[in-house]
Amino acid sequence: EGTENAHVGVVGAGYVGLTSAACLARLGHTVTCVDVDTTKVAALRSARVPIAEPELHRLVSEGISTGRLWFASELASVARSDVVMLCVPTPARSDGTVDLGAFDVALDALRHTLDPRAVVAVKSTVPVGTTARAEGLLGAASVSNPEFLREGHAVWDFLHPDRIVLGATRKEAAERVGRLYRGLDAPVIHTDPASAELAKYASNAFLALKLSYVNVLAELCEHHGADITHVAHSMGLDDRIGPAFLAPGPGWGGSCLPKDTSALLHAAECAGVDFAMLSDAVAANSHQHERVVRKVRLAVTGSADGSLRGIRLGLLGLTFKAGTDDLRDSPALAVAERLADEGASLTGYDPGIRGSRDLGRIQLVDEPALVAKDAAAVVLLTEWPQFRELNWPQLAQLTEHATVVDTRNLLDPAELTAAGFAYHGLGKPL
Ligand code: UGA
Repeated sequence: EGTENAHVGVVGAGYVGLTSAACLARLGHTVTCVDVDTTKVAALRSARVPIAEPELHRLVSEGISTGRLWFASELASVARSDVVMLCVPTPARSDGTVDLGAFDVALDALRHTLDPRAVVAVKSTVPVGTTARAEGLLGAASVSNPEFLREGHAVWDFLHPDRIVLGATRKEAAERVGRLYRGLDAPVIHTDPASAELAKYASNAFLALKLSYVNVLAELCEHHGADITHVAHSMGLDDRIGPAFLAPGPGWGGSCLPKDTSALLHAAECAGVDFAMLSDAVAANSHQHERVVRKVRLAVTGSADGSLRGIRLGLLGLTFKAGTDDLRDSPALAVAERLADEGASLTGYDPGIRGSRDLGRIQLVDEPALVAKDAAAVVLLTEWPQFRELNWPQLAQLTEHATVVDTRNLLDPAELTAAGFAYHGLGKPL
């Protein structure tokens, strides 16, 4: 097999599948990406990419025109691949356990068609033991090869990984999957499937712990008149801690951190392992939503217990983080729900969400000025950098009370004060 290009079948054209397929084609392999959604497959064949991700459209178009990237709706199309990569979604059920429905459907279909010489790479985030189960069921060597890409940076992260994790019982299988990434400059970790599966959950849950830690610290800072930005900066310069994921916010969300944290908690519970610190981090995250609401009450009514009934609030940012159009498990929406429960009337603007989306009790508007208009306060919930460039003096004129609650510490307090706003950050001296 040497350094030759491989034939790769990618099952699932979602976030991870499509990014992997396009990037593997970029690395020179011939890739067929299959998805059950025939409409999506038809769109992808004409290079229409359903997710907003930098560089993805360019790579998909390039892959199609060089003949290295193909799309199909029949699983049989990937049966003869050297590597079949499973990238189907594994969402959380309402009880926090992992829904392996789509994964099992794929296994079942592959069972009858897969060439036993193929190697199966499991990229979906799956509970410990799933890769071994796949190997038993398919009779083809299986490798746990978790993906660590971030939304909004998916292509970059795929091509510049911090690490490549290969968990397998058969060394040749792991090596075949490893060769797909040749040319990428990253440490490769060869391990067993359970360790690889756990490494994925452990990483996301650790990020959640780090964020809850900094969010609670921000609250403590307020009590002591300290500044979380300086505290976090001081912590982050310690190599053992690192500077990333130390920015406080309205809570952590998205389609991965909450889901994977619940799944790990569930696994710990089943194993009889006390992981209270992780459930505390989850509880701290709900508390963080509540804390933002208290902050808004205090800023608007002068009392942390004041009533928000009938008060108009303008929300800036609704997505779970900047640079995406993804509202799944968005902390901004969690905060908005609580504000609406208290009787506030809400308008919202987000650069990633356009058109007429039904956002329940949030009235979506298509410019920031409409959020500010007649609002008692502007509440910034997602860290879109363009919010820094807004015409804040003009927004101050439009609002009723010229109050801003900046839950991401994105804005410059001096500039906002000069614009006429009463500025409230998170974890800042009051
Ligand atoms: C996360 C992980 O970062 C990826 O490594 C992983 O591959 C991915 O999940 C996955 O499992 O697929 P993502 O969901 O794109 O990626 O989101 P993050 O960038 O991790 O952000 C998560 C949340 O933390 C967001 O709500 C964000 O606003 C918040 N956050 C992040 C902060 O509040 N402060 C920070 O300093 C950083």
